[in-house]
Amino acid sequence: MDKYMVSEAHLIPTPALLVFRECVEENIRRMGELLRGYSRLRPHIKTHKMAQVAKMEMAAGVDKFKCATPKEAAMLAALGVGDIMMSYHPVGAAIQRIVHVKRRYPQVDLSVIGDNEGALKALSEVCSSAGVEIGVLIDLNTGMDRTGAAPGEPSLTLAKMIQELAGLRFDGLHCYDGHVTNPNPEFRKRTAFHSIQKAVETKELIEASGLSVERLVASGSPAFEYTSQIPDVDEVSPGTWIFWDEGYGSKNPGQFEWAAMVLSSVISTPAPDLICLDAGNKSIAPDTPEPHFKVLGFPDDPEFVRRNEEHQVLRLPKGMPRPNVGDQFLLVPYHICTTVNLWDEACVIDADGCFSETWPVDARGH
Ligand SMILES: Cc1ncc(COP(=O)(O)O)c(C=O)c1O
Repeated sequence: MDKYMVSEAHLIPTPALLVFRECVEENIRRMGELLRGYSRLRPHIKTHKMAQVAKMEMAAGVDKFKCATPKEAAMLAALGVGDIMMSYHPVGAAIQRIVHVKRRYPQVDLSVIGDNEGALKALSEVCSSAGVEIGVLIDLNTGMDRTGAAPGEPSLTLAKMIQELAGLRFDGLHCYDGHVTNPNPEFRKRTAFHSIQKAVETKELIEASGLSVERLVASGSPAFEYTSQIPDVDEVSPGTWIFWDEGYGSKNPGQFEWAAMVLSSVISTPAPDLICLDAGNKSIAPDTPEPHFKVLGFPDDPEFVRRNEEHQVLRLPKGMPRPNVGDQFLLVPYHICTTVNLWDEACVIDADGCFSETWPVDARGH
């Protein structure tokens, strides 16, 4: 709790997104310890979208990143990152945007993922008429059922096709195991191994055909500890770990530190047991089951009453004295990635509790 003391918090206009610098540093340190260095880490920057945080990761030794949008890719390229993988499928007019990043930063080793013949052929046409080459990793569906080609023969067919397409280079396999979320670590480990096994078998099949699989990139925060134990996995790509949130924290307490929160004030007390905070849907992402956040320092979870764009009404836990209008609370979002994307900038809180600077959320949006 002490590490979240903010001195003179009343001088910060609320609602505000806060980033606790020391906690970000601690998460980077823990990640280095878990992976014994940073050489197999390809952190996903969709969680923070901030050049300043990417710079902290780079200062620790991270030299490659994953991202989801052309804007994130451009932010990384402008920072001098030499190896950027956009783990998203360029389709239609969006192809032009990512090819534009490659044209603007030709020295960057830029790759994307793909799982569809037609979309890959369209990407090839745009790349070859722009005179650039982009790497492609086959996106494998190993159980999440969101995107991805079927492992095995269908992926081998795609790999052979990519190899032949002008402007494209076959780089390997991508496998995001977002279905590995069970709070029971043993269960999670089993599902992660089951999922990655399909990718490893596909890698062997492709290599047996004579094509080389440069890299197999896998996993988010809940599974990377397990899949990184598999020698065939070249890189792991968690994102949420850097700021952590209550969604993951409630399932895996203490693995990382909460490093970003929303500071909110009581703006009204409409009944003896009710408070209204100034952090509604436009301050904390509502893409999780209610209540979307945990209130730091409350003796118990409050009851979620109602929520609007800029209002959040809570019923206080029994026996808790009602706070006053103007009192401030730190809210830990259930989903920090979508919450950060709601903000233009974050207030940085240093180890001494002082608000020292603001960092722009540079790659906010797409
Ligand atoms: C393709 C891909 N890779 C990696 C990640 C990172 O996962 P996490 O946020 O669980 O660390 C995500 C998360 O959405 C993702 O979609």
